[in-house]
Order: sequence, then structure tokens, then C-alpha cells
Amino acid sequence: MRSFLLLSVLLACSMAEEIETKLSPLQAVSKSVESFSTNFYKTVSKNEKGNLITSPLSAGVVLSMAAYGARENTEKQMRDVLKLPADDTLGRSGFQNLIDNLNSVKDVELRLANKIFPKKGLEIKPEFKALTADSFRSAEEQLDFAQSAESASIINAWCQNKTNNKIKDLIKPDDLNSDTAMVLVNAVYFKGQWKKKFDAKNTEERPFHIDHKTVKNVSTMYQSVNIIYGVLPDLKAKFVEIPYKGEEVSMIIVLPDEVNGLAELEQKLENLDINTLRQKGYPHDVELYLPKFKIESTIELNNVLTEMGMEEMFSDKANFSGIADVPLKVSKVLQKAFIEVNEEGAEAAAATGYTIVLRTENPQMPKTTFTINRPFFFILTGSIFNKHETASLRVSYKVSLFNGHVMEPK
Ligand SMILES: *[C@@H]1O[C@H](CO)[C@@H](O)[C@H](O)[C@H]1NC(C)=O
Ligand SMILES: *[C@@H]1O[C@H](CO)[C@@H](O)[C@H](O)[C@H]1NC(C)=O
Ligand SMILES: *[C@@H]1O[C@H](CO)[C@@H](O)[C@H](O)[C@H]1NC(C)=O
Repeated sequence: MRSFLLLSVLLACSMAEEIETKLSPLQAVSKSVESFSTNFYKTVSKNEKGNLITSPLSAGVVLSMAAYGARENTEKQMRDVLKLPADDTLGRSGFQNLIDNLNSVKDVELRLANKIFPKKGLEIKPEFKALTADSFRSAEEQLDFAQSAESASIINAWCQNKTNNKIKDLIKPDDLNSDTAMVLVNAVYFKGQWKKKFDAKNTEERPFHIDHKTVKNVSTMYQSVNIIYGVLPDLKAKFVEIPYKGEEVSMIIVLPDEVNGLAELEQKLENLDINTLRQKGYPHDVELYLPKFKIESTIELNNVLTEMGMEEMFSDKANFSGIADVPLKVSKVLQKAFIEVNEEGAEAAAATGYTIVLRTENPQMPKTTFTINRPFFFILTGSIFNKHETASLRVSYKVSLFNGHVMEPK
């Protein structure tokens, strides 16, 4: 009997330029994570027709941690899908930089936490322990999974704590039993205030086109604000970037031109590079109408990851001999995510250093009205940079912390 490895990813939300030289570790890993994120979101969104929030970053980090303990074909599949840098020294220090960077973003609360819960008595290899502690800043706590209710409550309490009580019941006692060998959990939590808050006095019921036939009044916020706005002809869409306090995290909203344009847009997401998106827009005075929304998604990722090409880790052929000398396979990868967007900002259980120079505003540009009144795609991005670089030379990269779509604001 094969023991199970349960990978859990959770998160809760409430409300660059490239240098053509050798990639720094942070740059290499940011690229991997971003490329994985795009494919991941495309695969998830195809099957999620309702409102959706996911954290590809969170999934990418916990799976990468497991990938470093995989061997042979299991390792190959995981590395291919996760796009891990071929150079392990580079990859490992990149993850360390990425996690430390995200945990030190100013003016907003952003926490990325990893924890490994091995079964009592499982001998984890010292190299894997060192890797998870150093590169993934991961702690370890042994549990007796035969006591499934107690173990589930310890894991859930940890998650709840790391997500400011937004993610409560990640794991059910039924998910655990005496065959469970290890549970890997990754929690991401974000809470930020808009750089410019919406005035609640301007929030009104306004029409939202759920589809061609259905219009519903939804609670919609309004403000006049100077933000980046741009047109994306190849995606038949327009976008705005709304910054949070500190400007290291922002929400990008991509609004299809057509009421039913979202599905097509989501299948072309590789054309939306968040690191060059800003260059496709300009700072504009925008009359912004944004519906309030709250989404909680629980997704079992086994099918998504299998479809992406990581099927062997779930099978009896799995080789995780870098973790322990017993046969191990992954039983389940779960992600639970939450976001709430309101006048204050956002809270989500999932970056001052902007150095990208903005193109100057065209003085003839009239005020733009951006009315988000049909299904849309959003990304919460964080900027990260090498802290050892002097401020004026810093290059920041963006990573997607969360993304999702709103079909009907609720
Ligand atoms: C797993 O991979 C290791 C390293 O390549 C190899 O020594 C071992 O035989 C493999 N285990 C199985 C069960 O295939
Ligand atoms: C999480 O645990 C720490 C340490 O025990 C505690 O200080 C903090 O208040 C807890 N946070 C939540 C949201 O429960
Ligand atoms: C939507 O709200 C406006 C006022 O805010 C009201 O005039 C209109 O009748 C409402 N429409 C529907 C479909 O409820």
C-alpha cells in the first residue's frame, strides 16, 4: 500500500522591463511562476463557469517544493509543467528570494506561509528538510493521521491563523487516514487598502450584464481616479490597473468589449504579459465603476494538474524518493481561496519599488469612463525586486498573486 501525500494550497482574499543578461535567481523563478500561472489559470477557468478566485502562485510554490523531492519521470513531469529553472541552485535561491520578498511588501498585509505535516515516524530525508526550511521557509510538524479529526483540526487551525480566519475548513477528517504520509500546505493571505479609497456614498445599484439576455442591478462603487488604462485590440478588451496603498500590489481588471467575450479572452491569456502590460496603457483620468464582489472557491486540482501533464505524481509509479525512502504518491491537491473587494480595498487569503517609468500622459486625452458592467477577468499582482540593488537601479518583476473572474457580482 502506497502512502499518500496530500498537497493543499489555500488562500483567502477579502477585499518591467527585462534585462537581457543572465537571469538573477529571483528573475528566473518569477518567470517560471508566471508562466506556470498562465497555463494553470487557463486550465482552471475552462471548467469553472461561475465566479472564480485562484492563486496560481500558491499552487506553484507548494508543487515546486514537492517537485524538488521527486525523482525520475515524476520529477521530469513536474519540472516541465512548473517550468522550474534547470539550474537547481538558481531555482532554490530564487524561491527563497521570492518568498522573502512577498513577505516584506510594505503598506499592505501579504503573507505566504508553507508548512509540512509529515506522519509521525516518517523519516524525511535531511536534504529535503534543509531544502524546505531554507528555500521555502517551511516549518514541520509531525501528526498522527490515524487520528484524522485531531490532525485535520491542527492543520485547519494553522491555515486559519495564517489567513486571518478567512480559510477555515481546508481539510476534512475524511481526507486523512493511516495511509496519509504527509500533508503540504501553502497559505497566502492578502489585505490591502486602495491607494485611493472609494467613497461609500457613491456606491449604488447599477446594471450588470450577466449575458446578452440578463441584466441585474448590483452594488457598484464609483470614483474618479488617475490610473493606468489601456486598450488590448488582440484580446478585444480594455484594462485598468488600480493600485493598493504602497503601490507594490495592484489589481488589474481586464474587461472584454463584448458581454460574452470572457471565455475567448481567457483562452488567449498568454498574450497578456503582466510585466509589459503597463506599456500598453497610459495614466488616465478615469471615471471608474467597479462592482463590489466576494468570492470563495474550493477547487480540487487533481484533474487540472493531470490535464497539465503531472499525472504520474498521483499514480503508483510516483517517485518521491527525494523526500523519504518509502513509496509515496500524491492523493489530493486542494485549493481554497477567498476574496472580498469593497470600498476600502481587498482582503484575500493569497509590493514601493516601482521603477517602471510611466509613459507621459497625452494632454489631449479626454476623461475615460470605465464601466465594469459585464463579466470580467482580474489579477492581483505583486511587484518584487532584488532588495540588495540600490533603489534607482532596481528592476521589479510582477507575479500574479491571485486571479479569477466575476460572472455575476455577489
Ligand atoms: C526512484 O528514483 C531513484 C533515483 O533515480 C531510484 O534510485 C529508485 O530506484 C526509484 N524508485 C522506484 C520505485 O522506481
Ligand atoms: C496566529 O497565531 C499567532 C501566534 O500564536 C497570534 O499572535 C495571532 O494573533 C494569530 N492570528 C490569528 C488571526 O488568529
Ligand atoms: C436598478 O436600479 C435603478 C435605481 O438605482 C432602478 O431605477 C431600476 O429600476 C433598477 N432595475 C432593476 C432591473 O431592478
